[in-house]
Amino acid sequence: MGESGDNKVKISYYYFLLEVRILKRILVTGATGQIGSELTVALKERYGKENVISTMHVRKPPEDLEELGPWVTLDVTDRNAVDKVIEEYDIDTIYHLAAILSATGEKNPQLAFRVNLLGTYNILEAGVKYNLERVMIPSSIAVFGPETPRDNTPNETVLKPTTMYGITKVAGELLGNYYFKKYGLDVRGLRFPGLISWKTPPGGGTTDYAVEIFYYAVEGKKYTCFLRDDTYLPMMYMPDAIRALIELAEAPIEKLKHHADFNITAMSFSPRELVEEIRKYIPDFEVEYKPDYRQEIADSWPNSIDDSAAREEWGWRPEYDLPAMVDDMIKNIARKLGKDLP
Ligand SMILES: NC(=O)c1ccc[n+]([C@@H]2O[C@H](COP(=O)([O-])OP(=O)(O)OC[C@H]3O[C@@H](n4cnc5c(N)ncnc54)[C@H](O)[C@@H]3O)[C@@H](O)[C@H]2O)c1
Repeated sequence: MGESGDNKVKISYYYFLLEVRILKRILVTGATGQIGSELTVALKERYGKENVISTMHVRKPPEDLEELGPWVTLDVTDRNAVDKVIEEYDIDTIYHLAAILSATGEKNPQLAFRVNLLGTYNILEAGVKYNLERVMIPSSIAVFGPETPRDNTPNETVLKPTTMYGITKVAGELLGNYYFKKYGLDVRGLRFPGLISWKTPPGGGTTDYAVEIFYYAVEGKKYTCFLRDDTYLPMMYMPDAIRALIELAEAPIEKLKHHADFNITAMSFSPRELVEEIRKYIPDFEVEYKPDYRQEIADSWPNSIDDSAAREEWGWRPEYDLPAMVDDMIKNIARKLGKDLP
């Protein structure tokens, strides 16, 4: 074949790739949550507005997201409803974010069990029934427990969590790997650390202090932290988290040795270190520490995470460290609240 023949083949291959991308039909469960509200926007930009169907359950979509519909109401514990939405919108990919998080889960373990386990089971079963191309299910550092090594926690380690949330997350990972092996369903997931963002408030997790604290700082109010000042936890800024999900979803499957259970991280810090960083912008910021029931949850989680498997298998690299995250958070929250920084 001559050079122009080669070019024709190349061009039609690019059109084919373009078509594949355009034809993607994505369902996002839990799209009004902390991750979903930002992931939905990123997916719509990447794959086309009409090709991403956002589902809401309890919370109404934030005002700035309303126009980013179509929005569909879906309770993931209702198997028939899950099937109906997949059929109606001809879905081939699911980002399954609907969940009850750690702190809320300890207040209502029965609800956490139903939503996290039954919901995930329904999504996986539907994935097999409709031969879906891919199912993304975030996991969490909550899969670890008090017996797990706390520093630089490896990908393969003891998974004996002591919260209902953690128990459902371990089961979700094991089920994801099982459905891949048994049915060939391409399930992928990563263990997010605490996520920090300014657009949508967090949904009841143990790391929520690291978001709330910025609102108090910018408004010039004293903050009462529900964790001890020396509690180290792994964390990540939301732009990195969104990129991680999309990069893992798009990674070539041949490169993946893990599937539903990648460790990932970006930074680790304690409340005291976060406060010191915020005081570089707001020197008078006052904080007191009154640990509550969430301290016990935090004490059962790692200080820091080894994410070398994610780095090797799909090229994971975080962009934001503590100073870069604090700089972006402070500026965006001050703008959002219409406040000038001192
Ligand atoms: N935010 C974090 O710090 C963090 C950390 C680790 C892992 N994760 C994981 O990421 C995923 C998304 O978390 P998030 O922070 O966006 O949570 P979130 O609490 O902010 O949002 C969860 C969403 O699930 C929806 N939901 C609850 N019950 C439902 C039901 N029965 N049917 C359908 N929807 C229902 C809620 O309305 C909400 O929109 C979860 O799997 C969570 O375990 C989050």
